[in-house]
Amino acid sequence: NLGIINIPVYIHIVYPDANSISTSQINSQMATLNADFRDINTNLLPSGTTFANDATDAGFSFSLAGTFRHNDSRSSWGTNDAIKSAYPPITPETHLNIWVCEIGGGILGYAQFPGGNSSTDGVVLGGNYFGNTSGAYGLGRTATHEVGHYFNLRHIWGDGRCNRDDFVADTPKSDRSNGGCPTFPTTHCKSADMTMNYMDYTYDSCMYMFTDGQRNRMRAIFAPGGARSSMIG
Ligand code: ARG
Ligand code: ZN
Ligand code: CA
Repeated sequence: NLGIINIPVYIHIVYPDANSISTSQINSQMATLNADFRDINTNLLPSGTTFANDATDAGFSFSLAGTFRHNDSRSSWGTNDAIKSAYPPITPETHLNIWVCEIGGGILGYAQFPGGNSSTDGVVLGGNYFGNTSGAYGLGRTATHEVGHYFNLRHIWGDGRCNRDDFVADTPKSDRSNGGCPTFPTTHCKSADMTMNYMDYTYDSCMYMFTDGQRNRMRAIFAPGGARSSMIG
């Protein structure tokens, strides 16, 4: 009953040449977030998977509220939130802040779960994986995955063995992440893994769904009293 939840987004581009991330690249990332969280990518669902009917419209939209470009010569920001100290989030109570920078170490992106310190709230993305770029992670789905975390989703395999949960009932148990572009079925813990879920570690072209259970878990934090309820007033 919350309807489509709109998330206003501030994007901080931090590079030696902050114009190296173009406006069209930013727009392509916004388009991907809007498509993935409304399940407009159903054309990518292959036939023959038992999960084909489980892809759901999570009911989120994203609007670009501002872009902030910072020329900064630092070449590797790591994952210790240094970038957030240098360029603090703007009104994180009401806006999703996304930092785009060189993280280094082969890291695609990282996110803060709901309920954390507001001074570090948001999502950090490597510029090579931001919006439409090239290669296996060139469709902007690192942002989809990280915003999933920001909305309280765990990795689909529960980051553990078969009995470790992602706290979502309609995602199958697994004991590991999957990479690349797995064939169906890829079986662990006695059932097919949902390798095409945004919260696995597969290539961008091979991940394209959230489930109803994930939708409900994400939206719960926006209900009255929820950890991100301030975002919708
Ligand atoms: N490894 C990163 C994380 O856990 C992001 C994975 C993104 N995957 C992708 N196909 N873009 O948070
Ligand atoms: Zn992750
Ligand atoms: Ca599950």
